[in-house]
Amino acid sequence: MRRPRFIAEHARNARGLLGRVIAFIMARETWRQNLRVMDALGIEQSDRILDVGCAHGRSLAELANRAARGRVVGVDPSELMVEIATRCNRSHVMADRVGVVLASAESLPFPDDTFDKVLCVHVLYFWRDLDRCLSETARVLKPGSRLGLLFRTKADLAAVASFPPEIYRFPALAEVAAALEQADLNRHAASDCKNEPVLLLAEKRRVQTG
Ligand SMILES: C[S@@+](CC[C@H](N)C(=O)[O-])C[C@H]1O[C@@H](n2cnc3c(N)ncnc32)[C@H](O)[C@@H]1O
Repeated sequence: MRRPRFIAEHARNARGLLGRVIAFIMARETWRQNLRVMDALGIEQSDRILDVGCAHGRSLAELANRAARGRVVGVDPSELMVEIATRCNRSHVMADRVGVVLASAESLPFPDDTFDKVLCVHVLYFWRDLDRCLSETARVLKPGSRLGLLFRTKADLAAVASFPPEIYRFPALAEVAAALEQADLNRHAASDCKNEPVLLLAEKRRVQTG
């Protein structure tokens, strides 16, 4: 059954009381896939990590635990999600181990070469410009560092039928792979299990010297 448009709208930009309810449900619905991406990224103790489209911020606490000597930042363009993620991670935020920033993938407010790992789970459906968002992501990654990108593709017919197309755009796997290449991100692994969202791992190209 197709998700009603107003629910999908809150997944893209949560607001008000209903947005809070949807954030609560989303944190449970996406948890297994977030763990899948974190495991695949191989988080290290001193990593600086960015979660693009962190929403409710459940991932941020887990990332801060895995990178016990590092720092974790979540960005999201929804003011409500930033408020919820900040509150849910209060002790880590107070200790400056976690930061939550109002921003979107199109323009990330960080210097070049800042992060050791970036994850982005069920977010790219809402990007108006895939190339731009991936090149921004590549810009803030350190050379040789990794992106974990999880999404459903247009080959997942059940997903396509379930979400309103005017809000969710499911890309082809080849389209995302080409955009990674364009953004100087070497795709080095992909898991495309039937009935599971695709997980692409990519590494920012190192600058050639000599
Ligand atoms: C379906 S939720 C997924 C959230 C979270 N990553 C998870 O796994 O539960 C999508 C999130 O992406 C955010 N979002 C929408 N457009 C975005 C953009 N252009 N850049 C970054 N985040 C965006 C939404 O505000 C929402 O919090």
